[in-house]
Amino acid sequence: MRKPIIAGNWKMFKKLSEAVQFVDEVKGQVPAASKVDAVICAPFLFLPTLVEATKGTDLKIGAQNMHFELEGAFTGEVSPSQLADVDVQYVVLGHSERREYFNETDEAVNKKAHAAFENGLTPIICCGETLEEREAGQTVSKVSTQVTEALKGLSKEQVIQSVIAYEPIWAIGTGKTATAEEANETCGEIRSAISEAFGADVADQVRIQYGGSVKPGNIAELLSMEHIDGALVGGASLEPASYLQLLEAGA
Ligand code: G3H
Repeated sequence: MRKPIIAGNWKMFKKLSEAVQFVDEVKGQVPAASKVDAVICAPFLFLPTLVEATKGTDLKIGAQNMHFELEGAFTGEVSPSQLADVDVQYVVLGHSERREYFNETDEAVNKKAHAAFENGLTPIICCGETLEEREAGQTVSKVSTQVTEALKGLSKEQVIQSVIAYEPIWAIGTGKTATAEEANETCGEIRSAISEAFGADVADQVRIQYGGSVKPGNIAELLSMEHIDGALVGGASLEPASYLQLLEAGA
């Protein structure tokens, strides 16, 4: 009942020409949007070109971050209205790399989530624990707090439309994947936290992705789990063949 959503997060990789070549190669082979939502989250610089290149196809384009203000003296930032103006559809919010290297807080992620909806963007809201927190038994409290703080004040309808990405920090780019059972258990806890805050009817409809060393070889097992409705993929989304295999697993 929850349609899978597979999002590639290119982070700070590729040149514009490589990005265009990638979408030109994959866009005709993307499974129908009725089966899986296929997204590429690219560097800001590429967004208008990629939106143009994918118009009329089932491949959708997202940003990896944004400011929460619509405009202003914020040197180096990009606003939600600027993303919407070039027809970007998704935006990743609160990725652990943004939290760790750019001091992004739960409060900022919440403001960004509100700004996303006000501008017609779908937020992909990230959460996840460090290895230290996992070993200290703090995984559930960490991710539940991150998610409920991020969603605070949104309407039920907006929460239903949000995408949550559970990414254990120790599994990002390390080749270590949480086992499907571990990932499912934490995604289930996230769903319970959403249920407590917004009701079971809402929680049942929210899509929760897993992220952290997802590859063609492990995605099927992850997606077969009850609470995992997609994947947020870094490294394995950079090559067309591998990205298409991830989409096929979701379709
Ligand atoms: O946003 C994507 C994640 O950080 C996962 O990256 O697939 O390279 O481990 P990865």
